[in-house]
Amino acid sequence: MTIQPSDQPLLEWAGDSLAIGLFEDAVELTGELATLDQKFSGVLKELIAEEEFKGKANSTIFTRVNADSPVRKLILVGLGKSDALKPDTLRRAAAAVARVGKKQKSKILGFSFPLWNNDPAASAQAIAEGVELALYEDIRFKSEPVEDKGSQIETVDLLGFGGQEAAITRANQIVSGVILARQLVAAPANAVTPITLAETAQAIATEHGLQLQILEREDCEKLGMGAFLGVAQASDLPPKFIHLTYKPEGTPKKKLAIIGKGVTFDSGGLNIKGAGSGIETMKMDMGGAAATLGAAKAIAQLKPDVEVHFISAATENMISGHAMHPGDVLTASNGKTIEVNNTDAEGRLTLADALVYADKLGLDAIVDLATLTGANVIALGDDIAGLYTPDDAVASQIEKAAETSGEKIWRMPMEEKYFEGLKSGIADMKNTGPRPGGAITAALFLKQFVKETPWAHIDIAGPVWTDKENGYNGAGATGYGVRMLVNWVLGSEE
Ligand code: BES
Ligand code: MN
Ligand code: ZN
Repeated sequence: MTIQPSDQPLLEWAGDSLAIGLFEDAVELTGELATLDQKFSGVLKELIAEEEFKGKANSTIFTRVNADSPVRKLILVGLGKSDALKPDTLRRAAAAVARVGKKQKSKILGFSFPLWNNDPAASAQAIAEGVELALYEDIRFKSEPVEDKGSQIETVDLLGFGGQEAAITRANQIVSGVILARQLVAAPANAVTPITLAETAQAIATEHGLQLQILEREDCEKLGMGAFLGVAQASDLPPKFIHLTYKPEGTPKKKLAIIGKGVTFDSGGLNIKGAGSGIETMKMDMGGAAATLGAAKAIAQLKPDVEVHFISAATENMISGHAMHPGDVLTASNGKTIEVNNTDAEGRLTLADALVYADKLGLDAIVDLATLTGANVIALGDDIAGLYTPDDAVASQIEKAAETSGEKIWRMPMEEKYFEGLKSGIADMKNTGPRPGGAITAALFLKQFVKETPWAHIDIAGPVWTDKENGYNGAGATGYGVRMLVNWVLGSEE
């Protein structure tokens, strides 16, 4: 599929389906649209009246036009209220159109959409992202092709966006990162392991010219990463500490780290996840690492003037005769001791050593993404990530990045008093506290391992996955975080 900007006048465009975006407060046809309606003998006006189309965000209707017309079908999509227009409105509307166009077996699809904020680049990028994200389908694990290649969308013309090639290229680069993240999360735990995650990092490094360092178990031992290795010790697979680095040419404006939880399967350990716990979904527990590698792939192509370190302490959380016992005391690489009162709170143990490692790199900021707690899902539901940080500047950078990317996030309190729940009689801290406020104590635990660097933690346990189609996400892995991370890094160039 090729998405291309076009300066062809709306009235002259020819193709299978022409999609028109309309605001909720302006569904009457004026100007060019009125002329277009006349050209098609009033079919648009009739369609709007017949279907009682109100322009509600993401509502779509369509009709055929007469057989000899240069346009076979017209699709109308609602954009909601004009004063509420955001890039994500365009992204979602474009996704809705792409789905309709695909169902109609349109090969050539045209878009006539308004601009957000008079910004043709941001608008074209959002539309292109919406189309590509909505049409992506994962058939890697099917033995036979599920659909006819001949009935796919081939060309998408963005009318009125002439000259926006660079914005579309940017969309392609970012989407390649989102799709990588989706593929990594969707793949089962017998396909994505610490070994294959390291191989994926290697493939990105080779293809896009990044530096890669993989720390093996012995290297991690030398660095004293007892928390990470405690989680890894029951698995038959070796842990891999992945450190991928993008360095711009010239002096970087900022130096950042992105850390992702990379638990390729979370059985719970000896505190094994029981029936109804969703243990069969725990292949998704490397969603943070997936977003990290997806962001690396995108950033390596976008080439900002920012140095970025992509880090994941990858392992499984398994059971065996040499598993951690509940109650074991581990020593992390900053010397802090941890009483593991629950082996299922393993993500924070792996992140602890990754944070200590990143904190020593002398960076301007660290952001970690993790499918860390069910408690975060209870608090914010499936669609919204939790943002935890003591740093207001980093918080507003992330909130801004997420606003543009359309990934929902909500800042949560870092209530220091709750750290009392992690007090241990034997060690410096326990790894879990009481159930109430469980996502906050998890964040407070992580905070013990960052001393020098402004830091934010993002709990993505909810939005990493969607059970049903949701906007531009199909059912399954969403690739949550990649676009936000890219925006955060690009925003740090200023
Ligand atoms: N990987 C889970 C968290 C999770 C839950 C991710 C649902 C995705 C969807 C994490 O390792 C975990 O098991 N957390 C425990 C912590 C508890 C033992 C304090 C949880 O949330 O129940
Ligand atoms: Mn767990
Ligand atoms: Zn986990």
